[in-house]
Amino acid sequence: MRMAVVALLLAGCSGEDDAGRRARLGPSPTFAQVMQVADAKAGARRFGQCAACHSIAAGGNDRNGPNLHGVFGARIAQNRPRFSYTDALQAQPGVWDEARLDAWLANPRRAVPGTSMAFAGVTDPLARADLIAFLRAQH
Ligand code: HEC
Repeated sequence: MRMAVVALLLAGCSGEDDAGRRARLGPSPTFAQVMQVADAKAGARRFGQCAACHSIAAGGNDRNGPNLHGVFGARIAQNRPRFSYTDALQAQPGVWDEARLDAWLANPRRAVPGTSMAFAGVTDPLARADLIAFLRAQH
């Protein structure tokens, strides 16, 4: 119980190393708990694995994948009108919120069968949360 209170109080601090955040989260945190310790700066570093296919700066070019500036909160497959999204992605309703991004980044082809995003996925929930926090900050 006391651990949970401490975790809540500390949630939201950034700049802490991964090991400290993982220790606080414990073995089976909820998605909400992981998002509370997400760190956009760590996400910026982790974005290196996306950068071959995605630019992120405002006005950046589409590459193999679409530019991702402003994608958080945008309608799925509509953030970059001139990018050739797959029919599979365009058929997805709704917007890129935290939960949708989490499922997508964990395994794009399981989340959206038929997608052209040729990326195995990010297995670590904390790494996904950091990436989501980074995308959320790029507006
Ligand atoms: C090998 C190239 C490649 C890599 C690596 C890659 N992506 Fe993608 N991504 C794509 C492609 C292609 C699409 C469009 C998919 C479609 O239309 O089905 C896409 C689509 C997306 C979208 C949806 C964009 C929109 O406008 O709706 C997001 C969000 C995204 N990628 C995030 C990421 C993140 C974050 C990473 C790194 C963890 C990553 N991608 C790694 C190629 C890639």
